[in-house]
Amino acid sequence: MTSSADAVTPSITVEAHIGPDDRRRAMEHDVRSGLTAPAKHLPPVWFYDERGSILFDEITRLPEYYPTRAERRILQLHADEIVAAAGARTLVELGSGTSEKTRLLLDAMQQAGLLERMVPFDVSEEVLTAAAADIAATYGCEVHAVVGDFHRHLGTIPSAPGGRLVAFLGSTIGNLDPAQRARFLADLAAVTGPDDHLLLGTDLVKDPARLVAAYDDAAGVTAEFNRNVLAVLNAELDGDLDPAAFDHVALWDPQNAWIEMRLRATRPVSARLAALDLDVTFTEGEELHTEISSKFRPEQVGDELAAAGFAVVAGWTDPDGDFLLTLARPSSRPT
Ligand code: AVJ
Repeated sequence: MTSSADAVTPSITVEAHIGPDDRRRAMEHDVRSGLTAPAKHLPPVWFYDERGSILFDEITRLPEYYPTRAERRILQLHADEIVAAAGARTLVELGSGTSEKTRLLLDAMQQAGLLERMVPFDVSEEVLTAAAADIAATYGCEVHAVVGDFHRHLGTIPSAPGGRLVAFLGSTIGNLDPAQRARFLADLAAVTGPDDHLLLGTDLVKDPARLVAAYDDAAGVTAEFNRNVLAVLNAELDGDLDPAAFDHVALWDPQNAWIEMRLRATRPVSARLAALDLDVTFTEGEELHTEISSKFRPEQVGDELAAAGFAVVAGWTDPDGDFLLTLARPSSRPT
């Protein structure tokens, strides 16, 4: 499905590879398999309904949640260098197409006279349509939005003569475990050409107390964000899970080097998800795993990229050394 806007702004295209039915099927599958498993789990993608997105936005402004500020600082300091090193005329952003951090890259590309096209790639057509209009109006560049799932549709990202800078920011890659990351990065390498670059944002391993505080803030916003996934299930699947019956848990797992978020039943819970014809019970203290947020060592980022077929071009951290942006290119470059 493709639609074009009027001629006031440069061309805006929205190319959808997934629609509401696919999303629904995926949610039904994830919820059924996750809530009937011996160790209950849900993937973090279902956090982000309208309220979840607002809560995440609030998280990014919390005093304890440093990653967003740290990554923004790196871009404020180094976006010019990054876009010069990449030399791309097309910016592809994987994940949310609305962030102001992307704008720091777009600003730098525009100032360098490089910016021709922006390709926001996201699972949400709503998010993309709004972002596309906004970006086209602000930058006067072509916008080709792709509604897709990055496990399946990376190959549909349009190729670009001047090369593409593919940005995957925010340490969103941290939601994947090592096997999932290996697959994702290899899939990405497979669709990346010799003129393309990857800009990858990763949160770094640090003092566990700071890590835990970032996922268990004093104001309780992250707790609300975590519990909101139950409200999403209730709304979408006609459920009656009681979010108030669950405590927010955020743990640092030093072995896996990730923060794990869980919801812990404070009493026995029986609930029904009518749309799935599914009854769910929790014993008191039983936990539902809702998210991992992996933290990285800089060498490890290089190693994982190398294993997937990327070579590191350069890396930048913020002045406090909390967060890393890595620029990489495909390591096998056909001539
Ligand atoms: C958007 C996945 C990068 O893992 O830090 C923030 C999500 N979860 N607080 C992260 C999140 C709890 C965030 N990512």
